[in-house]
Amino acid sequence: MSDTKTTTAPATSSDGSQPLVAVRGITKSFGKQPVLHGVDFEVASGEIVVVMGISGSGKSTLLRIIAGLTQPDSGEVDIEGVPVIKDGVVLPAWGTKRRAVGMVFQQYTLWPHMDVLANMSLGPRRVMKENPAATRKRAEDVLAEVGMAKYLRSQPLSLSGGQRQRVAIARALMMRPKLILCDEITSALDPPVAREVLSVLTKLKKDDGVGSVIVTHDMAFASQAADRVVFVEDGRIVEQAPPRVAFRNPQSEGLRKFVEAVRWETD
Ligand SMILES: Nc1ncnc2c1ncn2[C@@H]1O[C@H](COP(=O)(O)OP(=O)(O)OP(=O)(O)O)[C@@H](O)[C@H]1O
Ligand SMILES: [Mg+2]
Repeated sequence: MSDTKTTTAPATSSDGSQPLVAVRGITKSFGKQPVLHGVDFEVASGEIVVVMGISGSGKSTLLRIIAGLTQPDSGEVDIEGVPVIKDGVVLPAWGTKRRAVGMVFQQYTLWPHMDVLANMSLGPRRVMKENPAATRKRAEDVLAEVGMAKYLRSQPLSLSGGQRQRVAIARALMMRPKLILCDEITSALDPPVAREVLSVLTKLKKDDGVGSVIVTHDMAFASQAADRVVFVEDGRIVEQAPPRVAFRNPQSEGLRKFVEAVRWETD
């Protein structure tokens, strides 16, 4: 896409291409409790990364820092090679680059007093100053992409949990992100419904090259859809590998135990 000019030397990944998001040396404490200890993490364009780890390991904090919702104590974040956080400080470039990254949360975050179209229009109208007709047309297109074409004028409370999460993904897509961060967006849903919601993310990658970083325990989904599994333990990334390698041959004790526990849960 067009706005990828860099103002400083871009970060490069091992194959020489520029990562969409690069995080280096991120630390974060809440009060006296250290939560992230110098995390390095990269996401390539169009990549699906599944993030796993036990409760409290720092997954949500990492995603919130990438989304610009939580400020790190130190470390750097680049988006498309442009520094947006340096030494823990948010830089002005964040204002324009942040649109490349959308986020969807576990809790349904649609405004209950607005219909689907109004929920989806908020960002484009306020931030992108788009006109109502153009916004509506895009909302129709984006809803069709997530299998929700019929629900443009529905009230969020009339939708099922799975439908709401698909609308939440659609709302994030209205800002034309290149990466969507998903923090346990299916943990309140029954497995088949959860799988339908997650399959939207696979489709977005295939059809539009939109990547995602997905916090989920769903190993079957990760095996099928993830390019890479990242395992977080005590605020560190201790292991990352393609799903088959990560699940069949975990290197760390932590991931081995995690895989066993999740298998046992889902058996
Ligand atoms: N805003 C906050 N204020 C204080 N402590 C926080 C805050 N956010 C997170 N923490 C703490 O940081 C640690 C990591 O939390 P985080 O939410 O990132 O973990 P997680 O891996 O997402 O866990 P879960 O799987 O339960 O969602 C936890 O000990 C948590 O209590
Ligand atoms: Mg969390």
